[in-house]
Amino acid sequence: IEPDYANVSQWAANYVAARINEYSPSAERPFILGLPTGSSPLGMYRNLIELNKKGVVSFKNVVTFNMDEYIGLPKDHPESYHSFMWNNFFGHIDINPENVNILNGNAEDLAAECERYEKKIKSYGGINLFLGGIGPDGHIAFNEPGSSLTSRTRVKTLTQDTIIANSRFFNNDVNQVPKTALTVGVGTVMDARSVLIIVNGHNKARALKHGVEGGISQMWTISALQLHPYSIIVCDDDATAEL
Ligand code: GLP
Repeated sequence: IEPDYANVSQWAANYVAARINEYSPSAERPFILGLPTGSSPLGMYRNLIELNKKGVVSFKNVVTFNMDEYIGLPKDHPESYHSFMWNNFFGHIDINPENVNILNGNAEDLAAECERYEKKIKSYGGINLFLGGIGPDGHIAFNEPGSSLTSRTRVKTLTQDTIIANSRFFNNDVNQVPKTALTVGVGTVMDARSVLIIVNGHNKARALKHGVEGGISQMWTISALQLHPYSIIVCDDDATAEL
């Protein structure tokens, strides 16, 4: 628990940099990093860009897999997760674009795209560190309430709550928010060797309570991490209001 968002972001960035450096990745043995979008990780991304500029951490031998992507939104739409990642992170660090993996929400065969993604993660021997945020309903990636806790990468229909929450990025117009997305599964996140979840703000307090103090339930998919041997939640004081 950190006092505020600035400290949460700095803590998360320092942690990620330390883990990459301790692993000492090379072209033959890259560090495999799972990444989220959303406002929660923005501060961490800004700090990681700084650490990269100062030479504290390099992403040259880091391979990334993003958690999710909207279906049907053009790749270059300002709110696609593809645009988000290039604008807020990849465009400012020394990563090799070939090492960036983001689900293609415009693939002709979406099921095949999900299978390809899972296979590619496996081909690298799995994910070393999966970073994430949570929705106010406790979802990780787009694993909405009711998602199987062993789910894999697949198509998911967004709940009305998530559509409303995300409409702030679409001119506050729920009609502009895509209704479906591709997302890694809860099982895909659980397979990662370690997981770091960033939670900040009062509006996440209920989700944090269910995730940490509630029973393990598919209605609060973050709660699956209670069974993960190496998972960390870094949160601000506001998010702990209901603990
Ligand atoms: C979306 C994303 C999640 C993210 C959540 C919370 O639903 N698919 O990965 O954790 O939003 O976003 P924010 O951090 O903006 O609150």
